[in-house]
Amino acid sequence: MSSPEPTHDLSDLDPSFVFDFEAYDDLPDGQRWSTWLAVEPLSRGPEPRPDWVVTSQAAVDTELGILKTGKEADAFLLERAVPGTDGPGESVVMVAKRYRSNEHRTFHRAAAYTEGRSMKRSRDERALKRKSTFGKIVASGEWANSEWDALKRCWELGLPVPYPVQIDGTEILMEWITCADGETAPRLAQTRPEPVLLASYFDQLRDALATMVAHGIVHGDLSAYNILAADDRLVIIDLPQIVDLVGNTAGLDFLLRDCTNICTWFQSRGLEVDGGELFAELMAHAF
Ligand SMILES: Nc1ncnc2c1ncn2[C@@H]1O[C@H](COP(=O)(O)OP(=O)(O)OP(=O)(O)O)[C@@H](O)[C@H]1O
Ligand SMILES: [Mg+2]
Repeated sequence: MSSPEPTHDLSDLDPSFVFDFEAYDDLPDGQRWSTWLAVEPLSRGPEPRPDWVVTSQAAVDTELGILKTGKEADAFLLERAVPGTDGPGESVVMVAKRYRSNEHRTFHRAAAYTEGRSMKRSRDERALKRKSTFGKIVASGEWANSEWDALKRCWELGLPVPYPVQIDGTEILMEWITCADGETAPRLAQTRPEPVLLASYFDQLRDALATMVAHGIVHGDLSAYNILAADDRLVIIDLPQIVDLVGNTAGLDFLLRDCTNICTWFQSRGLEVDGGELFAELMAHAF
């Protein structure tokens, strides 16, 4: 005698055992489930975490549009929120910086900047030299990882950089720097600060550079375009090419160039500063 066929009719089941999978399939275009738990712990930002970081498994990421296209990466605004909520830790807008992998320019910069850094895998190294497609992907991952490490390191040193929320491949999620009016902070280059604010901005930068130099690091591409002016506070961004002051033979050259770029801008706005002097001052405190 055969046993009765098992039933597959869901209506027979106790409703508390029937899971609703519907929500897991169909998020509309421009949305995805939060990637926070999908990345490994080391790919999440340093502790203690700001209270605005959304860690809920129920959160959804929504594309809000492009902020700016850049030479090697594009910056987007991305909302991460638990649907139907709005409080701190439940809903936040972040910047998603996504590196592109098809930039030849990456390779011209790569050699000088990565000198003195150890490549983890020799296959990666060979691929970089070969400039193969794989090499390009590696190179783009290399820049994203490099900026991620730099952001974490600078944040942990208390420097004014966006809080690094997480990295997933070539995408970095970070704090969105805004002004009191809620708008994206302008780049320093777009501002014309009053003399008192201008002097304060310069002091902030000198302090930040001194801390970096004291810890053996140089931004490597510092200019009024890679600094955001959030009202009376400056925030340094765009750090993938951060240079090791000691391991990189060109480290001092990069530092001098950063000092010169910055001072030239401050001079153009009426502050009497000098790149060579700033460089000398930083070096005097460095070692
Ligand atoms: N955390 C942030 N908060 C607010 N705006 C940001 C942030 N990160 C980037 N941006 C905006 O996006 C622009 C590009 O970012 P970033 O400089 O990091 O990338 P990039 O690819 O090097 O761009 P570029 O080639 O223009 O230098 C910035 O100039 C700034 O206007
Ligand atoms: Mg930039």
